[in-house]
Amino acid sequence: VLSPYADAKNKVQTVVAHRGASGYAPEHTFASYDLSHYKMKADYIEVDLQMTKDGQLVAMHDETVDRTTNGTGLVKDFTLAELKKLDAGSWFNEKYPALARPEYAGQKVPTLDEVINRYGTKAKYYIETKSPEVYPGMEQQLLKVLNKHKLLKKSRLKKGHVLIQSFSTESLIKVHQLNTAVSLVQLTDRGVVDTLTDQQLRDLKSFVMGIGPNYKDLTVKNTKRLKSFGFVIHPYTVNTEADMRRLNSYGVDGVFTNYPDLYKRIVNEK
Ligand code: G3P
Ligand code: CA
Repeated sequence: VLSPYADAKNKVQTVVAHRGASGYAPEHTFASYDLSHYKMKADYIEVDLQMTKDGQLVAMHDETVDRTTNGTGLVKDFTLAELKKLDAGSWFNEKYPALARPEYAGQKVPTLDEVINRYGTKAKYYIETKSPEVYPGMEQQLLKVLNKHKLLKKSRLKKGHVLIQSFSTESLIKVHQLNTAVSLVQLTDRGVVDTLTDQQLRDLKSFVMGIGPNYKDLTVKNTKRLKSFGFVIHPYTVNTEADMRRLNSYGVDGVFTNYPDLYKRIVNEK
């Protein structure tokens, strides 16, 4: 693994824009990613992946389109053309009238390919294989798209332009078997991190660069323990200033946040 964190001792913490700047704009739309990338200059755009009926990878958190579009049903039952007819922004205006903006209405569900086309290979992507058991071939398709955009070049991987994260260890193993140079992050559900034995952590560390725990699980003690195995630690999803400061004081390497502007201000304080 070409770890982008290998010589990162004095590096400031990494700002991962969770579903884009999703505290301000509809998650996983260009509106949300534009805000985090161009305006707030977060380090990473976080992209959750689902797969359409015709095998296209799209940026969406849920397995169904119900919560974040005006449609209903499973992503896997939509072709990309069908999915593109949905409005992925109006729900946000309705749910958060104080944050509503006219340009959010009519936002589309982006494909991973479109996301990389838009932000280019100088941007950094923190990509999650969601529900990989529902989507056979998801990992191959992901690497195919990354390869098309030359994001699997050693120089790009070394600088951490792509990190692949999953709750599914099997999915991470699949990616690793396809390409051993890609940096991987194991996400852990609430309550799991302290159940991992030293042996399990050593096994994970043999192919995984980092751990993404639920931030509520972290303490000074278990953060130190994870660091002692050499993991980079990126807890999710940290949205208050107090939690950001507390986790930084434990020694985390960055956080997933819906408010990248807030975390960026904190990590850049002298
Ligand atoms: O990927 C980190 C964090 O986003 C995991 O939770 O449900 O928001 O994808 P979720
Ligand atoms: Ca995620």
